[in-house]
This record gives sequence, C-alpha cells and structure tokens, in this order.
Amino acid sequence: MSNTNKWNADKYNKHADFVSNLAFPVIELLNPKENEKILDLGCGDGTLAVEIEKFNAQVIAVDLSESMVAKTQEKGIQASVMSATELTFQKEFDAVFSNAVLHWVKDSDKSIKKIFSSLKPKGRLIAEFGGYGNIKFLTDAMQKVFNEHKEFGTFNNPWNFPKNTDYKQLLEDNKFNVEYIELIPRPTKIDDISNWLDIFANGIISHLTQEQQSVFKQEVREILKPKIYSEKDGWVADYVRLRLKAYKTV
Ligand code: BEZ
Repeated sequence: MSNTNKWNADKYNKHADFVSNLAFPVIELLNPKENEKILDLGCGDGTLAVEIEKFNAQVIAVDLSESMVAKTQEKGIQASVMSATELTFQKEFDAVFSNAVLHWVKDSDKSIKKIFSSLKPKGRLIAEFGGYGNIKFLTDAMQKVFNEHKEFGTFNNPWNFPKNTDYKQLLEDNKFNVEYIELIPRPTKIDDISNWLDIFANGIISHLTQEQQSVFKQEVREILKPKIYSEKDGWVADYVRLRLKAYKTV
C-alpha cells in the first residue's frame, strides 16, 4: 500500500497472478468459518476475497488502489478504497487477512493499531508479506543503478521487510498473542523482471523522464540477469515471506 506506486489492474492480472496463486497456504492458516466476517486488507484484484467467500464467510475488502477496488467489486465483493494506516472499522471483524501488502506500510505500528481496533475481542490477524531479506538482489540492483546515475536523485526504497523477531515484538506491544510467526524463503518465478519493475517499482522512478526510466529498467535487468535468470527456470525473484497468525488478547 504505497502512496507512490501506480497499480495497473490489467498488467497485474497478466503478469502478477503468482501473487494470489501462491497464497493458498495463507488462506489455510486463516481457516475461514461459515458466517465469519473477514476483512481482506489490501485485496488487490479480489481473487483471494472470492476464495475466502467460498467458505461462506462474509468478506469486506479494502485496497489503496481505486482500479484494484473496481476489479474486486466486479467480482461481487464489497470493497472500498482505504489505507492500512487509516482503517475506520471498530470491533467489526472475526479476522483480518492480508496477503502481500504489509511490506508497503512504513508505519507498521499505526497499521497494527488500526487492525487491532478493527477486530472483535479475541479476533485474529493472519498475514503474509515480504520479510527480512526479501528481494535483496532486486533492491541492491536498483540501489546500484541510482548510485551510478546521480541525476536520478536518491533511491527511495518504498518497502519495509521486517525481521520476525521485531514484528513479533510489535504485535505483542499492541496486545496481540502471536501463535505463529516465521520467515520463509520462497524463490518465486516471475515472467520477466521488466514486467515486475513496471508493476511494482513504478513509484520509485516516477520522477524520472521516460528515457531515464528505460535506462533504469535496462540496467537493473542487466545487473540481475546473471544472478536471478537461468535458461532452465527463467526469472526467479528472491522472495522471503513473513507469515504470521496472532490473536487479540482482549
Ligand atoms: C513482495 O510480495 O514481496 C513484493 C511485491 C512487490 C514489491 C515488493 C515486494
């Protein structure tokens, strides 16, 4: 949920369906029950909200991107534009579910407080997002290209990839009981790093001219090719997931 990344729902659908396809273990961890009211925080195009509704749970979805919210509504899910740090719900949900979103939130403490307020007493948070070490090859390459082109300005890394120990502490400080939290290395096949950069890193280079953006993408690709591309597997991003389940203690 970055304020600067521009989400293109069609490109996302075409090149980033791996995000939802790989999320089924998180839905298993959520274990939705009939009639439960569940908040899908950062619903993307609504694919996972639809899966959760198949358990006969009621899903309310939010996302920062208007185009993603529209895609979710098209799937028949109640969805609105809302940020993880500005949730307006009060003790409404049995569970908050969030996949591949919380690494966009710089102010984790604020989002955890809002999630806490959104949950009913003893409600649960099930989340998975980028954890410590996530996409290190990618961010190092982006940093290197910025370092080599002083005219690009500073590399503003929009992501927050916390350690499991730090996030556990944060949850406990906010009156959550952490049942499970783990960092899971998960190398992830993507179709081409250029598409990944177009979808997920456009906010980092939005201040550059079109020509500079092309140079950035080309040079990042050249740096990464010997590291994360092979004939056999294609492009494989060095993802590390932080997966967790925590309950409100009150
Ligand atoms: C991730 O899911 O880890 C991720 C996706 C886009 C940008 C950064 C990280």
